[in-house]
Amino acid sequence: MSGSYPDLAGQVVVITGGSRGIGARTARAFAAQGAEVCVVGRDHDALDAVVADLTAGGATAISVAADVTDSTALDTVRGTVESRLGPVGVLAAFAGGLGFPVPSATLTEAQWRQILDSDLTSAFLTIQAFLPGMLERGRGAILTMSSAAGRQPSQANLAYAVANGGLVTLTRHLAAELGPAGIRVNCIAPSSILTEKVQARMPADVQEKVAAAHPLRRLGTPQDVAQTALFLASDAAAWLTGLTIDVAGGRVTG
Ligand SMILES: NC(=O)c1ccc[n+]([C@@H]2O[C@H](COP(=O)([O-])OP(=O)(O)OC[C@H]3O[C@@H](n4cnc5c(N)ncnc54)[C@H](OP(=O)(O)O)[C@@H]3O)[C@@H](O)[C@H]2O)c1
Repeated sequence: MSGSYPDLAGQVVVITGGSRGIGARTARAFAAQGAEVCVVGRDHDALDAVVADLTAGGATAISVAADVTDSTALDTVRGTVESRLGPVGVLAAFAGGLGFPVPSATLTEAQWRQILDSDLTSAFLTIQAFLPGMLERGRGAILTMSSAAGRQPSQANLAYAVANGGLVTLTRHLAAELGPAGIRVNCIAPSSILTEKVQARMPADVQEKVAAAHPLRRLGTPQDVAQTALFLASDAAAWLTGLTIDVAGGRVTG
């Protein structure tokens, strides 16, 4: 772990999408800073594995299984985290990821609704669940997760692009609204991150081609995203809000 952010020690951090991939790596990064972490996803076994890994490393970590498109389930997440760990200082709404390619002419209405729900509405509902506590305390850092697909046209499906473009707007809007209340909201927009899933599904020759499309000539890593999340959540970014950072190897530059 390269960066060090002492102000994150002891903070309660909730990470949706924390059961695998970028979210799980981010959970490990916050735990390494001494934060108390709650990971949220739907897969109980995967959540258990992340918590076992974090606690084996000496961290305080819990999981709550929930579907983040369900506001009632999110209320349960908030109640559980607050009672077991305390008030939440950092919220990373990272769950999502339905970027599979589909020609727009054949994208069904059901797919459109499902993807918007999973990748955009979920972030709104997650933030809304934790906002009252942050407003009451007059502090908090919220991180949202967009994608290079929301920054410029890509192979990903239209609904995913629109959802991720919406996350950039959601971030800016909330940052302006919540700044006076002491709450910062920033967004991370990764391109081509080599998660376990991408590693398993993308053949090596395609990985090489994708890497070559990035000025820095490699795919991103979950660690690249996690480092950005630490920075944005920490006091090192105390004067930053409403931003979207393109963790994209130079492929997207705002
Ligand atoms: N990998 C990339 O190249 C890339 C690039 C740009 C943006 N992103 C964004 O980064 C985020 C994480 O992606 P990833 O690549 O790490 O994907 P991943 O490995 O497939 O992980 C997705 C995570 O989101 C959770 N999730 C999805 N829908 C959920 C729901 N309805 N309720 C609860 N949890 C849900 C999953 O939990 P369960 O499996 O436990 O349900 C899992 O923890 C996504 O928002 C994605 O759009 C990824």
